[in-house]
Amino acid sequence: MIAERRTTVLDVLQATTAYFKKHDIESSRLNAEHLLAYVLERKRIELYLEFERKLTEAELARLRELVKRRGEGEPLQHLLGMVEFCGHTFLCDRRAMVPRPETEELVEFLKSEIRDPRCEILDVGTGSGVIALSLAAKFPKAVIVAVDISEDALSLARENATRLNLGDKVQFVRSDLLEDVDGTFNLIVANLPYVSTQDRCNLSREVLRDPEIALFAGVNGDELVRELIGQAPAQLRPGGLLALEIGIGHSKGLLSALAEKKYRDICSKNDYSGAIRFLFARYG
Ligand SMILES: C[S@@+](CC[C@H](N)C(=O)[O-])C[C@H]1O[C@@H](n2cnc3c(N)ncnc32)[C@H](O)[C@@H]1O
Repeated sequence: MIAERRTTVLDVLQATTAYFKKHDIESSRLNAEHLLAYVLERKRIELYLEFERKLTEAELARLRELVKRRGEGEPLQHLLGMVEFCGHTFLCDRRAMVPRPETEELVEFLKSEIRDPRCEILDVGTGSGVIALSLAAKFPKAVIVAVDISEDALSLARENATRLNLGDKVQFVRSDLLEDVDGTFNLIVANLPYVSTQDRCNLSREVLRDPEIALFAGVNGDELVRELIGQAPAQLRPGGLLALEIGIGHSKGLLSALAEKKYRDICSKNDYSGAIRFLFARYG
């Protein structure tokens, strides 16, 4: 993995990159840089100023352990214990799904859409809390409730809220969809599980480290989103917005479901890869 005599920052970066390539790790150089920066307690960019620095035995041992685990498919974010999302650093571990870049696109879009900074927002399936807390940071006067069926996810979300000094801005509640949610909202946003149980065999080793409850929604994959589409009208204020992140191939059926339930201003939006990934609709 990392040979004993090659111990400068540059040597180690090259050896780790090659090892990751051999183990089919995407963005192998970037992964190597992140792990080395983590071990050396540097910013990634600072490694470039220290290419000739020799690593100590203790640093090498720590890095070898992380490189081995990454090579076995453990997600980089779990090894680092954190993830960047919408400009904030969130704790990240096995209690909740690793947040995805598509969801950042959803949050950035919502930030540009929200007109009333005091609006009431509900985040359904909050996971590590990234959506609710990113919106809370941007709109500190908003009233935000975040729900999840998983106590593990909620404990991580609460830790994130405390770390970001947003502990009093978001109320976290355990609920199966909207079952235990009180009140009405201007915006209900949800990134619920949307993988079909039949697609399990197509998932990467990294994705399979996410909690099952964060991934799978049923045989079609769109079951939970459909259920939410049915429940949300009762808790949307007149003209309130439902914003959904959805799975690839689910848009047609879900657009029909929104129309059948009499939502209006229904529209979809692609993610950066060009897939229809987000649906928006107003009710009342
Ligand atoms: C795809 S993850 C998204 C997490 C987070 N919102 C994000 O974007 O990174 C889906 C989340 O929905 C939660 N979930 C699954 N079924 C649920 C249900 N019936 N009611 C509420 N939350 C649920 C899971 O525990 C998980 O945290």
